[in-house]
Amino acid sequence: MRHFSRRHFLSNTLAAGASISGLSLAGSELTAQPADASAARVTIDPDRSISAIDRNLFGSFIEHLGRAVYEGIYEPGSKLADANGFRTDVLKEIKELGVPIIRYPGGNFVSSYHWLDAVGPKEKRPRVLDLAWNALESNQFGVNEFMAWCRAAGTEPLMGTNFGTEEPEMTAALLEYCNVDKGTKWSDLRRAHGYEKPHNVKYWCLGNEMDGPWQVGHIPATEYGIKARDAARQMRTIDPTVKLIACGSSNTSMPTYLDWDQQVLEQCYDEVDAISLHRYYGNDEETGGDSSKYLALNLAMDRQIKEIAAVCDLVRGRQRSEKSLWLSFDEWNVWYRARGPKFDDGHRQEAPHLLEEIYNLEDALLVGGLINTLIRRSDRVRVACLAQLVNVIAPIMTNEDGLFRQTIYYPYVWALQYARGKALDLVPQSDTYEVTAFTRRGNRAGEKITVPYLDLAGTIDAQSNSVSLFILNRDLETARDLTVSWHEVVPRRVNTCHVLTGSDLKAVNAFTDPKRVAPQNLEAPAAGAEMKFQLPPRSYTLVNIGL
Ligand code: AHR
Repeated sequence: MRHFSRRHFLSNTLAAGASISGLSLAGSELTAQPADASAARVTIDPDRSISAIDRNLFGSFIEHLGRAVYEGIYEPGSKLADANGFRTDVLKEIKELGVPIIRYPGGNFVSSYHWLDAVGPKEKRPRVLDLAWNALESNQFGVNEFMAWCRAAGTEPLMGTNFGTEEPEMTAALLEYCNVDKGTKWSDLRRAHGYEKPHNVKYWCLGNEMDGPWQVGHIPATEYGIKARDAARQMRTIDPTVKLIACGSSNTSMPTYLDWDQQVLEQCYDEVDAISLHRYYGNDEETGGDSSKYLALNLAMDRQIKEIAAVCDLVRGRQRSEKSLWLSFDEWNVWYRARGPKFDDGHRQEAPHLLEEIYNLEDALLVGGLINTLIRRSDRVRVACLAQLVNVIAPIMTNEDGLFRQTIYYPYVWALQYARGKALDLVPQSDTYEVTAFTRRGNRAGEKITVPYLDLAGTIDAQSNSVSLFILNRDLETARDLTVSWHEVVPRRVNTCHVLTGSDLKAVNAFTDPKRVAPQNLEAPAAGAEMKFQLPPRSYTLVNIGL
């Protein structure tokens, strides 16, 4: 399995030049030109919103991969661990972040994972070979430990299931083990394991990236759709309240992109609630290392969301269904350096250092842009997971003495703290620039993409009576002005105005220099009917304004 990596597969299919998913950013509703080409404008009407934001839009992901679980959240014997073996410093950090939902236990890992190996007395649990990452899995941390950890961290589980080497029967058994109170084979087993109360897991992913030839148990779309339908029917008999997410395309570069999603949904549309989207971004072949192009990649996420939503609606129409599916963008992040055999082969070790991507300033700016896209698309995306949370492509890195926050931590924590209530319907006017199209199948040579310098998302929260703005300035050289006008309301004060910026786009944080890239206060204009913000070049800004 390890010899046919996801990366290898994708680069081969890109090179093959099949024409499925041409990617162009033109046509974004954010590209309107202002009258004065150097100043951007936006009018905020508190009554114009897109939708309520589901808190689960800012979830995350912990996989049994590298040092995410072991040495990340669970390290018995560590001076930082509590009686359960949970890392207290990491727990505190995640609690403070307020992560609403965490996907677990994989990822690729889940497709050959037997959950039954990791419950019951710890001394009896087998040590197994994880086929996804060629690592040793001790099974000392399993579903019950994860549920206890979630309670301690104040978060909710998004449970992944094995559609690779197990049949739907075992997914149903896991649900019965987790959610049925008592009096059945699996619920009584949970009780025998010391967990009297059911875990009541609401959200479930039906498999992981089953479209990918790298996935253990990869099968054709129709076959997967039938299996998902079967599992869903069994699961709803056990607990009709569960939310079920079918496995969608794992990337826009897949030759089966959109076809997979349609064929899957043709089989299981009525049985599921949502379909998954995955995507990792990088300043690599796709952008040619051009940072101004890289910072536009969140518009590719906008487009992916629209395309998958269109497929859902197509199938809905074909099936005359009353139900509209929502989307679960349950893996997204920057990931392009710590990839390939040097970074994803566990060499049959326990807790190997895998996928330990170190993030720089420009990665954090793009993550800010991706959060903007999620806010703007919150009418359709209800669950999304920053992949992942600790040590593995993560905002938090640990060693035996403590942790540090990577650059991408900051836009993520701002979203968690400030993107509350409803997403505002904003139509900003911004000056634009052009870049050549991303290297994607279907693009014509020399095709141009028009990109606004300023990327804006806004939220309004009735509870705190405030509006938050999230502004990415993609201009690498020059500060940009943004004039904010208010419709039928005059704000009272600016509560918060922070910016993430710096002179070096490649600057990173480390244990030795943990705050090299960190937010600073930005001078804000006085609250009023018209407010002019000056946004530094290469920056992501958060403003919270009291109404
Ligand atoms: O998050 C790392 C990996 O990326 C996951 O295991 C897999 O689902 C995706 O390909």
